[in-house]
Amino acid sequence: MSVIVSPSILTADFGHLADELQSMSACDWIHIDVMDGVFVPNISIGFPIIKAVKDNTDKVLDVHLMIVDPDRYIDRCKEFGADIVTVHFEACRHLHRTVAAIKAAGMKAGVSLNPHVPVSVLEEILPYVDLVLIMSVNPGYGGQAFIESSVEKVRKLKKMIDDGGYNVTIEIDGGVNERTGRLLVDAGADALVAGNYVVSAADRTAAIQSLQNLK
Ligand code: DX5
Ligand code: ZN
Repeated sequence: MSVIVSPSILTADFGHLADELQSMSACDWIHIDVMDGVFVPNISIGFPIIKAVKDNTDKVLDVHLMIVDPDRYIDRCKEFGADIVTVHFEACRHLHRTVAAIKAAGMKAGVSLNPHVPVSVLEEILPYVDLVLIMSVNPGYGGQAFIESSVEKVRKLKKMIDDGGYNVTIEIDGGVNERTGRLLVDAGADALVAGNYVVSAADRTAAIQSLQNLK
């Protein structure tokens, strides 16, 4: 199976969202970055945009909540069309409850880790999640430099998942390109988020395929 590629629309042209989505139609998922200006120092996409994406693509909607207390918005994510909802480990007081609520609402549940947080904190939650999103930049902005130590983090996570016999997708977000994608896939990544690499590519289909073909 090829690598799952999830282009981030964070830096897309929202004046032409339908065309932007069309230009990414070779992809598998669409990554939607929701920011609240509290958990991260930026504000981005909200529910009206999630709905507009849903109305203009048949891809899986991969929603990344960079917000505090995400429990408040789980039902609305479902209502507006999310298929996968990923919350931050650092933003949840009762992570097990949050993961259960996402699944009870009929969506896949992901947990994301900031760059400074070790994968060992996931030991007790891994049996319950569908996806882990490793941040390879500090969340908040597109186009940042890849943090190289993320590759080793993926390798450790892959071993935890294999040792436990869990069915968990490993997704990486931040600074992904063909070079870093190669390292990440070799370390065990299943899915790659790509913002700048896809959005700034002259040929977006070729950029998406270059990542899909890493496996
Ligand atoms: C960062 C976001 C990312 C971002 C990735 O906070 O979560 O999804 O859009 O952008 P690139 O691929 O440009 O680093
Ligand atoms: Zn993201």
